[in-house]
Amino acid sequence: MIRTIVKSCIPIFGSVLPKAAKQKLWQGYKFLYVKTFDSAFYQRIFNRRVDSLSKEVLQQAFQQDSDYEAYVNCQIEKSLLMVTRAPQGWGLGERTVGLVGFMQQVLPSTDQPARVLCVGCRNGAELDYIEETCNATTQGLDLFSQDNRITVGDMHAMPFANDSFDVVYSCHSLEHAFDIKQAISEFYRLARPEGIIAIEIPIKYELSDTDRWDVGSVSGLLEHFGSQSHEVLKQETSDEHVRVVIRVRKLARKTTSNVKSASTR
Ligand SMILES: C[S@@+](CC[C@H](N)C(=O)[O-])C[C@H]1O[C@@H](n2cnc3c(N)ncnc32)[C@H](O)[C@@H]1O
Repeated sequence: MIRTIVKSCIPIFGSVLPKAAKQKLWQGYKFLYVKTFDSAFYQRIFNRRVDSLSKEVLQQAFQQDSDYEAYVNCQIEKSLLMVTRAPQGWGLGERTVGLVGFMQQVLPSTDQPARVLCVGCRNGAELDYIEETCNATTQGLDLFSQDNRITVGDMHAMPFANDSFDVVYSCHSLEHAFDIKQAISEFYRLARPEGIIAIEIPIKYELSDTDRWDVGSVSGLLEHFGSQSHEVLKQETSDEHVRVVIRVRKLARKTTSNVKSASTR
């Protein structure tokens, strides 16, 4: 809210104020912004928001235990702190441009827009960029929502039907998983047969309560796919991340009518 007001005032002040005055205003805004979020009053609102989001996410929980509950709570607290503490908001990261570029190279060129699920998108920036640069519609999923395209949920048990998406996209979110194998099997469940999973994940970094997995390499990441069949279409490893785009190979499931006709033969 505060950010929206400031952002809409920037063009007005930007055109009339000298540079030094604009810098002073910006410093003052940042100071007041941080003070507001440090106040005991705001802390109470913040804690209530964390509790109510945790309840909402835990209603869809994949596992009922205290370790998982503590994980959800601390992940939500960290995510909300990150977004509220950034006075200018979070824009688009370079990594989004990189991973979307990778994904674009393998997207089929059809008239039909690809349905892309962005897991852990944080805000609308990733969704906007994908919609602007690819022939795609987007659905976001995160532990909180700042945009009506983003559903509140947890990557371990997402509230969507099997095979719903042409692409499941996860940029710097999988390292936050509680159970990385479970999260990957959700990606796999939600991607349609022959669909795509695009992942970028940091490596060689310091782990914490919220940044929990260092897969080390592409093969380290792929190990977590277990027996879920896939083909690697593109991969890249740098000192800081691995990036892969995978084609999902699913065996055709037997439909109810197939099963019936087989048993009545
Ligand atoms: C580092 S941010 C990445 C944001 C964006 N994808 C990007 O590349 O800039 C990680 C995001 O994953 C979300 N996240 C963490 N754990 C999650 C979970 N279990 N389920 C869904 N989202 C989660 C966080 O709330 C946060 O918004």
